[in-house]
Amino acid sequence: MVVSCGSKHTLYNLFQVLLDPGDEVLIPVPYWTSYPEMVKLAGGVPVPVEAGGGFRVRPADLEARRTARTRALILNSPNNPSGEVYPAEELAGIADWLVRNDLLVISDDAYQHFLYDGRTFTSIASFPGLPERTLVVGAASKTYAMTGWRIGWFLGPEPIAEAVARLQDQSTSNPSSLSQRAALAALDGGQEPVFRMREAFQRRRDALMKGLAAVKSIRYPFPAGAFYLFFTHPSITDSVETAGRILAEKQVALVPGRAFGMEPYLRLSYAVADQVLEEAVRRLVDFFRAA
Ligand SMILES: Cc1ncc(COP(=O)(O)O)c(C=O)c1O
Repeated sequence: MVVSCGSKHTLYNLFQVLLDPGDEVLIPVPYWTSYPEMVKLAGGVPVPVEAGGGFRVRPADLEARRTARTRALILNSPNNPSGEVYPAEELAGIADWLVRNDLLVISDDAYQHFLYDGRTFTSIASFPGLPERTLVVGAASKTYAMTGWRIGWFLGPEPIAEAVARLQDQSTSNPSSLSQRAALAALDGGQEPVFRMREAFQRRRDALMKGLAAVKSIRYPFPAGAFYLFFTHPSITDSVETAGRILAEKQVALVPGRAFGMEPYLRLSYAVADQVLEEAVRRLVDFFRAA
């Protein structure tokens, strides 16, 4: 295990130690915006994988993009931006495909504690043959609302952990000891605050879906986890342009789908107070009714 300055730092370190120039990393679409850039910074080649049947990739989608240079797959479930969660049986299929092709998987578990409607988290590392090929990336920033403290971690095979530790030692000399103490207190302490946050997110997600139902043509994958709604509307052709107009006209900040490799979508974060969200929904409904 190696503790780093946020899971973003963990991911960056991993790509630096894993990739040789030209190595390919499979990145399911939509993806967290930093993955492709980090892969490129390490000399690798990001390979976006479209999900044939919706927002979750299947082994056939991955197989279609696999080459002799494929080194790893990035899995992020619950997903930023879609809120999608891979059910255990789909993870089993992907796990089997990884073993058959002798590939690594980077499991970005940043939102592992934010699953709704009684769902429970399944790690891909729990399937046969996977512990030795799963690189688990964890974060304090989402689970404990400790974004600014910058603590993330890597769990995985020892040779990779050693390489990450050497790289980190020569670059940042490791995260601040104060932040490490704070994260330890969060991990060791009672987890009730996390459960309360999960309840609050579920309540806000439900309110959001109810509010947006006023515009029948708004569509989105069901947000089973994380704290985002990734939606589209027939009036959106260019997500950057629409996000800009919504910001200018309604003062609601959304992230364009293009940042996540998927058009024509917009990502809304519901990690905001209930009243703020309620007002944002009212303004979005106004905007899309007139669109
Ligand atoms: C999927 C995912 N991974 C990693 C991160 C990075 O989080 P941090 O560096 O704060 O741990 C984020 C932040 O938005 C994220 O959404």
